[in-house]
Amino acid sequence: MEKLEMLYEGKAKKVYATADPEKFIVSYKDDATALNGKKKGTIAGKGEINNRMTNYLMQKLEDAGVPTHFVEELNGRETVVKKVTIVPLEVIVRNVAAGSFSKRYGVEEGTVLKAPSLEYSYKCDALDDPLINDYHILAIGLATREELDTIAKYAFAVNEYLKNFLKAYNVDLIDFKLEFGKTSDGTIVLADEISPDTCRFWDSITHEKLDKDRFRRDMGGVEEAYQEMMKRILGE
Ligand code: TMP
Repeated sequence: MEKLEMLYEGKAKKVYATADPEKFIVSYKDDATALNGKKKGTIAGKGEINNRMTNYLMQKLEDAGVPTHFVEELNGRETVVKKVTIVPLEVIVRNVAAGSFSKRYGVEEGTVLKAPSLEYSYKCDALDDPLINDYHILAIGLATREELDTIAKYAFAVNEYLKNFLKAYNVDLIDFKLEFGKTSDGTIVLADEISPDTCRFWDSITHEKLDKDRFRRDMGGVEEAYQEMMKRILGE
C-alpha cells in the first residue's frame, strides 16, 4: 500500500491518504514537543520505537478484546490504520500520582492511588487541552453517552491488560493517555499510539523514569530510556 497526499501533520505523526478510502497510513516522526508545543526537540530513533511498540501492544490488546485501528505495519516508521474520525478527547488513566494530577491535587508523585482514575481533556490546542467532564462532553456533543461508556470501558480494559503485561518486564504503568476514533460505521476503536510519549513507565525496582518525562523535565538519557523500553518489550 502506498502513501498518497498528506492529510494531516501532527506534533509526532503525519497521516496520509491511500487508494483505499477506508485506510490511512501514519508515519511516525522523531520530533518531540511538550508543554503543548512550547518546548520542541527531537528524540533520535523515537519514531521507529513508538511505531513498533504501538503496533505490538495494539495487536495484544485486540487479542484481549479491545478493538483498535491497527491494520498492518509497513516498515519501521509507517503503519496502515483504519480510517477513523478521532473523538477529540485525551483519555487519561492513572494508577500512581504524577504530573498534572500531583500538581492539581497536591498528592506526592509516586503515591499509589486507591483506585485507578479516569479523566478527559478536550483536544484543542487553542484552549490548551482543558480538563473536561462527562456532562460537558455531552453538552458540547463531543461524544454520546453510549460512546463515552464504551471509551471508559476500553480505557480501563487497556489499563488492566497493560499493567499486568508490563509487570513481567519490571515496568510500572504509572499513567497513560489514549485516543479513540470512530470508523465509518460508527464503531469506537482505540487509535493514536501507546508509547513512551503517551505513557509514564517507571522501573519497578529503581523507579527510574523510562518515558518522555526525561524530555519534558530535561533529565537527559532520553534516547536511552526509549531504547530501554523497546528492549524490554520487544527484546531489541
Ligand atoms: P499529565 O500528568 O501531564 O496530565 O499526563 C498524564 C499522562 O498523559 C502521561 O502519561 C502523559 C500523557 N499525556 C500525553 O500523552 N499527551 C498530553 O498532551 C498530555 C498532557 C499527557
